[in-house]
Formats: sequence, C-alpha cells, structure tokens
Amino acid sequence: MVGLQWGDEAKGKVVDLLTEQNDIVVRYQGGANAGHTVVTDGKKYKLSLIPSGIFNPKVQCVIASGVVIDPAFLITEIKTLRSQGVEIGKNLLISDRAHLIFPWHKEEDRLMDAIASKESIGTTMRGIGPCYRDKVGRSLAIRLGDMYRSDFKQRLSEVAKAKDHLLGMMTDTDWEPMDDEEIHTTYAEYAKELAEHVGDTTAFLLDAADANQRILFEAAQGSLLDIDHGTFPYVTSSNSSGVGVSSGSGVPGCHISKVVGIIKAYTTRVGGGPFPTELDNETGQKIRDRGNEYGTVTKRPRRCGWFDAVAVRYTARLSGVSKLSIMLLDVLSTFRELKICTAYSLNGKTIRDFPAHVDDLRQVTPVYETLPGWTEEISDVRSLDRLPQNARNYVRRLSELVGKPFGLISVGPDRVQTIDCGLME
Ligand code: GDP
Ligand code: IMO
Ligand code: MG
Repeated sequence: MVGLQWGDEAKGKVVDLLTEQNDIVVRYQGGANAGHTVVTDGKKYKLSLIPSGIFNPKVQCVIASGVVIDPAFLITEIKTLRSQGVEIGKNLLISDRAHLIFPWHKEEDRLMDAIASKESIGTTMRGIGPCYRDKVGRSLAIRLGDMYRSDFKQRLSEVAKAKDHLLGMMTDTDWEPMDDEEIHTTYAEYAKELAEHVGDTTAFLLDAADANQRILFEAAQGSLLDIDHGTFPYVTSSNSSGVGVSSGSGVPGCHISKVVGIIKAYTTRVGGGPFPTELDNETGQKIRDRGNEYGTVTKRPRRCGWFDAVAVRYTARLSGVSKLSIMLLDVLSTFRELKICTAYSLNGKTIRDFPAHVDDLRQVTPVYETLPGWTEEISDVRSLDRLPQNARNYVRRLSELVGKPFGLISVGPDRVQTIDCGLME
C-alpha cells in the first residue's frame, strides 16, 4: 500500500479499510513526519508512527527496522490513542533495529534548513533527514535496541559530544553544549516505557511470511518523495515508493503479492520543490477549501493542483502497482471542468517520461486534457453506477492514462464513504 504522489493521499483510510482482511500491519519507513488520518463512527484519529491497523485489536501492528523513531513522540501517541479507548499492548511490536531520533537531530534539521542556499526543502522539522544521515554514516547512530545495552550511557555521551562539535560549527551564535546526563536520564525512562513492545521484527515478519500470514505494508509519504526515485532533493530521506518495502521491513519481494497505489483525484504537495500542475489561483484555493488541504503534521496549507498522469504513471510503474485506490473524488464536485495533465512540454518537445532532474521538471509546461465536471455532491454515493456519468468518465480516464485499473473510489473521509470496485480481487 503505497502513496503515488507527494504524500497525504489518504493512505490511513485505505489501511484502516484493509486491516480486517490482514493479520499484520507494518510501518516500514519514515517516522513522525507522517500524518495519517482514520475516521470511523464520526471519530477522527491521527497517526504518525503507529500503523493505521491499530484500531483492530486482533491485528498485530509492527514498526519495522526502516522507521526512524522519536521515542517521546511515540510514547505520546500511544498515550493519546489509549485515552481515546484504543487498546495498545502486545499488539504493537517495535524493531530493536530502528534508529532513534535525538534532540540533536531536530536541531540539525532546523540549522540545515537555515543554511541551505537553494529553495528550502521545507521539512517537517522532525529530525528525519539528520537521523537517516547518521544511520547511513554509521559512526554517530544509535538504534532502539542500543538503549537496553550496558554501554548506552557511554555511547550517548560520546555521540552528544561529537554532535556538540558539529552543530557548533553550523551556527553563527555560540552553541550551548547539550546536557548528555539529562538526555540519558530521559531516554532511559523512554526505554522502560517502550520495553514491552521492543523485539526482533525482522524475524517475526519472516516467520509470519513463511506461515502465509496476511501482511499489509503501510507506506508513509508518497513515491514522488522517494529519496532515490523522487523529485530529489525535494524529497524525504527514505524509500517511500514501493521499492522500500523490502529494505524497510526485511521481507523479500517474493512474499509481496499485491500493491495498492493510493492517489488523490487531484494533486497536493507540502514543502518546497517543483509541482508542474500547481494552481496558484482561485481554482487551487477551491480545491484546498473543499479538500481541507492543510497538513496533518505541520498544519501548513498544502499546495494544490490538477491530477498529473505523467507523474503517477511513472510512480505506479516504479512501485509495481496492481490496482489504484482513487481518493477524495468528492472534492472535485461542482467544478465546471476538470483538467488532467497527460504529457509535459519541455524545450519544445512533448515528453511522457517523468524527468530525472528537478530543474527540468521546473521547466516543463503541462499538456492538459479537459473533461466536463459534475454539479452534484457525491459523498453519499456507495456504488459506481450511482456516480454521475462525468465522475465515472473522469476516474476511468485517470486510470487509463496511468495504465492501471482502479479498485476503490473514496468519496469522503469516513470508512463508509467508499465505493469498493474489487480492490483486493
Ligand atoms: P495520509 O497521510 O496519506 O494518510 O493522508 P492524510 O491523513 O494526511 O490526508 C488525507 C485527508 O483526507 C485526511 O484528513 C482524511 O480524513 C481525508 N480523506 C480521506 N479520504 C477522503 C475522501 O475520499 N474525501 C474527503 N473529502 N476527504 C478524505
Ligand atoms: P504522509 O505519510 C506529505 C515532505 C515535507 C518536505 C519533505 C521532507 O502523511 O503522506 P522530511 O521531514 O521528511 O525531511 O520532509 O517531505 N513530507 C510529507 N509530505 N506527507 C507526508 O507524509 C510527508 N512527510 C514528509 O513536507 O517537503
Ligand atoms: Mg499525511
């Protein structure tokens, strides 16, 4: 289950819907930069690190090794959900291999944004990039399992000293050294609170896959934010497209039988970077208002635009999508006409492949096809044949241009506001 745009495609809703048909739900990359929403029985839940399968107590939820964990954030999320009546105990397993976010990672996120000379990436400031940087760099990384080892205090102190040195060099003002004793005391407390959940998720998932248990992998972010295949450098620091499932969870591709690609019926983006079909006008504002397009995590207004079939055809192929789940179609009701980007024009040439370099992507002009809209609201529609003809034509055309069949249409945030067209068949 993968987002095919720049995130916020309503992955949370689809995971929640599919949870019942699965034994295990796994988050495998990203961290508290994600903000997934589940709406059920009129109640709205926001999830950042915990898999969206958590509302079904029979399902085992797993935070796998590829996720970067801010323990303070995770503990708060657990407590908030428990206070809302959600059961969280042994049904949440967290990888001892997952890397930990420390206060210095958030400082580094902030300082790096300030010294960047180009357009800002506009990160969520949750320390995600700096933590992944340390993971790949190895020398200054600390994993969740390290908190339970006898040399944790010493290790933390060494890393904090090195970070004081590095962060001091990044600022003009005097850098106040961090209190490693205090950080240790706080993290030792976190370690105790999380202990009942921590284990070897790789072994657990491999055993489950061998036993033919049904596993649902919940991606965070979207494929266009993938570190290797997205709109680099305006991306996140993990493999958020389908290619990341195996590296993030430890489960090899041979166990993956279906890939659901989640798309909005239009496009949004939060943060910096090129966005060819962006509508910086009244139409864009209408989409933002109707779709309530404000960030779940940072509350920033999301940039809005028409559906980009060039970008999604690319990410659907990249992520090996079997079926599409088309979300927020109701937001497009009442538009007189709708546009879909079918190709780009770049330096006088028409192209259908997604450019590898952001500077080329900045230069493209979208080639649009215009379709008639529909006037009626569709939030109460529950079957394909009850959708207005123009809405049906619109989704069929999206699917045709992307080159993948659709299996679900969503017409509202609630679980029930869904038209299942055989997503899992
Ligand atoms: P995620 O990060 O991919 O899980 O998506 P977000 O939760 O950040 O953003 C999706 C938003 O759209 C949430 O507020 C959902 O409650 C809402 N939503 C989901 N599906 C629909 C839909 O079909 N129509 C409308 N209007 N809102 C939806
Ligand atoms: P979900 O899972 C939308 C964006 C940020 C920024 C870039 C890098 O809810 O779809 P980071 O903090 O990851 O280093 O920021 O990625 N971004 C998201 N945009 N949805 C998300 O997650 C995002 N997670 C990160 O806005 O542009
Ligand atoms: Mg989100």
